[in-house]
Amino acid sequence: MKISILFGTESGNSEMAAEDLAASLADTYETEIRDLAEVSPEDLREDALYVFVCSTYGEGELPNSALPFYTALSQTRPDLTGVHYAIFGLGDSFYTETFGHGSLKLDAQLKDLGAHRAGDFGRHDASTWEPVGEVAVAWFEDVLSSLQVNSNAA
Ligand SMILES: Cc1cc2nc3c(=O)[nH]c(=O)nc-3n(C[C@H](O)[C@H](O)[C@H](O)COP(=O)(O)O)c2cc1C
Repeated sequence: MKISILFGTESGNSEMAAEDLAASLADTYETEIRDLAEVSPEDLREDALYVFVCSTYGEGELPNSALPFYTALSQTRPDLTGVHYAIFGLGDSFYTETFGHGSLKLDAQLKDLGAHRAGDFGRHDASTWEPVGEVAVAWFEDVLSSLQVNSNAA
């Protein structure tokens, strides 16, 4: 299984988390990292697992580098049946009303278009001061375990 890590960022934290995640997977999986700014919905394939690592900016909005991808999804509404993804949202619970809303919007849009989410929605809260890469790597181990449980059950 190829793992494609797609990050959306404003100030670099999501890219850093994506790099830590890729480093933790590189020995076991074919892995790539791409900035969402350079990805279009037509690039999504059924034979990969897409791992979205994306922050929230403004008032619960997506960061700049994820906006063109999100806008293209909303406007072209491709059928994403057969596409598998996991999603890890970076945010800050200081923003009580909009904590993680940018990545939650992206998650909702992907699901609405038929893509299948593997594992739980992951979260990093900047207010905890936990190292974002460590939180992302621990979360993704759970995602991989849930995939193995599902494939053993099939
Ligand atoms: C101006 C500004 C607005 C933000 N707005 C939100 C928000 O509405 N909700 C949220 O959960 N986090 C918000 N954040 C926190 C960021 O999502 C968090 O710092 C994240 O780690 C940034 O990741 P990035 O560097 O990949 O963009 C905001 C941060 C800044 C500086």
